[in-house]
Amino acid sequence: MSVRAADLPLHAVSWLVWKILPGRAATKMAEFSHTEAGSGLDMLAATEETPRPELRARYFRHALDELRHARLFRERAGALASARSPQGRSRAQAVLEDGGYLASQGIRGSESLFRQLGELEFLAFVWVHEKRGAEQFDLYASLLRDDASTAAMFAEIARDERFHIAYSRAELDRYTKAGATHDVRWAVLRVRGRRAWQGWLRLTRDLGNAMAGLWLGLLYLLVIGPFSLVARATERPVGGILAAPPRAPAAERARGMA
Ligand SMILES: [Fe+2]
Ligand SMILES: [Fe+2]
Repeated sequence: MSVRAADLPLHAVSWLVWKILPGRAATKMAEFSHTEAGSGLDMLAATEETPRPELRARYFRHALDELRHARLFRERAGALASARSPQGRSRAQAVLEDGGYLASQGIRGSESLFRQLGELEFLAFVWVHEKRGAEQFDLYASLLRDDASTAAMFAEIARDERFHIAYSRAELDRYTKAGATHDVRWAVLRVRGRRAWQGWLRLTRDLGNAMAGLWLGLLYLLVIGPFSLVARATERPVGGILAAPPRAPAAERARGMA
C-alpha cells in the first residue's frame, strides 16, 4: 500500500497503537465504541430535527449503522481485552464502563450537532468525517489482516461507511446543483478547519501528557532513585541505634503518678 507523506504520522501512530503497545488495541476499540455510539445519537437527533422528511429515513438508517458499529467495537474490545494481561483488560473495561465518556471527551454536548450546524453544514460534517473515518478503518484493517475476526469487522463497517459517504455527498451535490455552490464550499471548509483545529488541540494535549510522563521519569531516575540508593547505603545498622526504653502501659503510668 503506497502512503502519502501527509498520512505518514497517522500510519506511524496506528502501527504503534495496533501492533506494538500492549493492550492499547483493546482500549482503542473501547474508545471507538463510544465514538460510534455518539455518532448514532447525533444521527437519531438529526432524524427528529430535520425539516426534510425525505432525509429522515437515511438519517435513521445511518443511526442504526452507527449503533451497530458501537456494539461491534464493544464486543471486539471485550474479546481482545480478555486475551490480555489483567491491567490491559481492566483499562479497556474501565473505558467501556465510563458512562460520562461522551461528555468528558467532547463527543456530545447538551445541544445536538444538527442544531449547532444546521442541515447543510451537518451534511458537510457527515461527508468529511465519514470519508476520513473510512480511510482510517481501511488502514486499521490492513494492519490487522492477520487477525481474521477484527479484519472482518472493519470490512463490514467499511461497507456501511461507503453508504454514509455516498448519500451525504449526493445531498451536497444537490445543494450545489440548486445554486448553493459557495455555501457548500464554505460549509466543507469550516468543517475541515474545525477538524484540523481539534486534531491540533488533541495532539498538543497528548504531547503535554507524554512530556509530563517523561520529565517525571527522568526526575525519578536522576534525583529520587540515586538519593534513595545513597540513603540505603549510608543507613546505620539497627544494632547501632539506641533502643528507647519500653514505655509502661498507660494504666501503670497513671498509678505511678498517684
Ligand atoms: Fe461508524
Ligand atoms: Fe459512519
